[in-house]
Amino acid sequence: MEELLTRNFCIIAHVDHGKTTLSDRLLEYTNTVAQRILTDQHLDAMDLERERGITIKSHPVTMSYPAKDGRVYKLNLMDTPGHVDFSYEVSRSLAACEGALLLIDAAQGVEAQTVANAHLATAQELKIIPVINKIDLPSANLELCLKQLEDILMIPEDEAILASGKSGIGIEDILEAVVSRIPSPRWRDHPHTRALVFDSIYDSYRGVITYMRVFSGALKAGDQMMLMSTGQKSEVKEVGIFTPKMQKTDSLGEGDVGYLVSNIKDTSEVKVGDTVTLARQPAIEMLPGYKEVRPMVFCGLYPLESNDYEKLKAALGRLRLNDAAFLYQSESSVALGFGFRCGFLGLLHMEIIQERIRREHDVEIISTYPSVVYRVMTHGAADYIEVDNPVLLPDPGTIDEISEPTINAAIHIPNDSMGDILALIMEKRGTVEHTDTLDHTRVMLTCVLPLNEILVDFNDRLKSLTHGYGSMDYELGDYRPADLVKMDILINGDPVDAFSSIVHREKAEGKGRELCERLAEIIPPQMFKVAIQAAIGGKIIARDNVRVLRKDVTAKCYGGDITRKRKLLEKQKEGKKKMKLIGKVSIPPDAFIQVLKNN
Ligand code: GTP
Repeated sequence: MEELLTRNFCIIAHVDHGKTTLSDRLLEYTNTVAQRILTDQHLDAMDLERERGITIKSHPVTMSYPAKDGRVYKLNLMDTPGHVDFSYEVSRSLAACEGALLLIDAAQGVEAQTVANAHLATAQELKIIPVINKIDLPSANLELCLKQLEDILMIPEDEAILASGKSGIGIEDILEAVVSRIPSPRWRDHPHTRALVFDSIYDSYRGVITYMRVFSGALKAGDQMMLMSTGQKSEVKEVGIFTPKMQKTDSLGEGDVGYLVSNIKDTSEVKVGDTVTLARQPAIEMLPGYKEVRPMVFCGLYPLESNDYEKLKAALGRLRLNDAAFLYQSESSVALGFGFRCGFLGLLHMEIIQERIRREHDVEIISTYPSVVYRVMTHGAADYIEVDNPVLLPDPGTIDEISEPTINAAIHIPNDSMGDILALIMEKRGTVEHTDTLDHTRVMLTCVLPLNEILVDFNDRLKSLTHGYGSMDYELGDYRPADLVKMDILINGDPVDAFSSIVHREKAEGKGRELCERLAEIIPPQMFKVAIQAAIGGKIIARDNVRVLRKDVTAKCYGGDITRKRKLLEKQKEGKKKMKLIGKVSIPPDAFIQVLKNN
């Protein structure tokens, strides 16, 4: 088989090690995008991505490169997200390549996601080209980086390319290494057409646009294609490549990376990792590695203004079109009214969706505590049920066992913060399985932690205890039984559903006390004594009281102006109407928000 002058590669790195900057530089060097068109970070199109500096979606781009060997190569570059929430997307982008540039920030060295990403690439049998990036920084420590490369990643240091995306050092070396070290497209000798889906987006004019890499055969407009996981068939209307904008082509052939437009109307029908084949001559075997992604973190989202309900519903519908990993269904809460239960891949995914609802769809929302999916066995039941909302937990009297999801985490930290981090892991109910020395300054802890415990502040605390030098990567582990209970918050004897949570029995009291105290502070004084209690089953484990006071709005009005007094009293009545009534207690909606926000 003749060699194809195509090279498919991606850039993998720990967050902020300079992937986007380097990608831009490659586009510029190959004249794919003129410098004046390059905004400072061309591949991160979404505003939010730019602001957070995190690449969320994979954007491929095709470049043309005349190499020193005198031949012109087609280089397909895939940008991959670096964050753990998106690790499935990372591994799908990797599966579409034959090689990877592994970036290491010269001032930071190898970090948790550098190692995790290198392992993902090795698992896909990719050729890794190590690049020590940002060598222009005065704090660059090349010697340490090269040593880490050998010691931690087992890559010979003489393979490393020294570069700086910012000042343009080493760009040609990188392109030459891509051409000479990365193999040409694999798996071309399969008898049928097979293409790997690595992403899909929704376009309001053209419907679903599927991003894919063709391994064998070809696809063109007019073909009947078939998605192998479901058998769904559809007519191909257009194919093309990314330059980086979409450019229509006659067909996509072996080794090509591009897009496909068909009659499919919903992105949830096109699953990342699926294989596209031709309906009239279908392949029998899918490309390897397909798995369904399932949301792991759930929370309730409610509009701040109840008349924004429809607007929120429309916003969620639109977001879902572009993001098959995001789920939602309607639910209602006594405290917060009508809203939606939503499922996300992880916390970052959740934050990004919430932010997009606020920003792109202009709906103010409040979210309840995030929850994981618990497995609950009840007496005599044949199988467990899954519970993602504490309110739906069966009666505790009927429960045999509750299991929770765990994660397997690799935590990289400086030696001197070891004591603090071990204490943090213990507080979060984790166990350290082993400790590895990375070099004379850093260690790696391999541990198991309940997913629920890292949802809220784990990463922030890891960063602050290590002065920013700690990093973590994780993958989902198995389910493990734990002594978990549902804790309710009662206001004047009535449970407030928005505050219910599933907690470990040993932590219930502390958490209950904290919540009661905070609510007592936030709820304005009432006309009569109001108790705030935390309870497990019928048992009260913590309590506090709301202050008793009548706010005399007429106090400032001395003299006998009765009309003014009446006006003020009317106004007070009006204000009360807006309050949420929990039993007999009126609570400003703000109070819920403040408590939920600060958690
Ligand atoms: P994520 O998408 O969040 O993973 O980030 P990234 O890896 O794409 O990093 P990005 O290119 O956004 O760069 C992160 C920061 O490092 C930015 O502030 C860049 O300006 C800076 N940076 C990137 N490359 C270089 C470099 O070669 N030298 C120096 N000094 N700074 C760089």
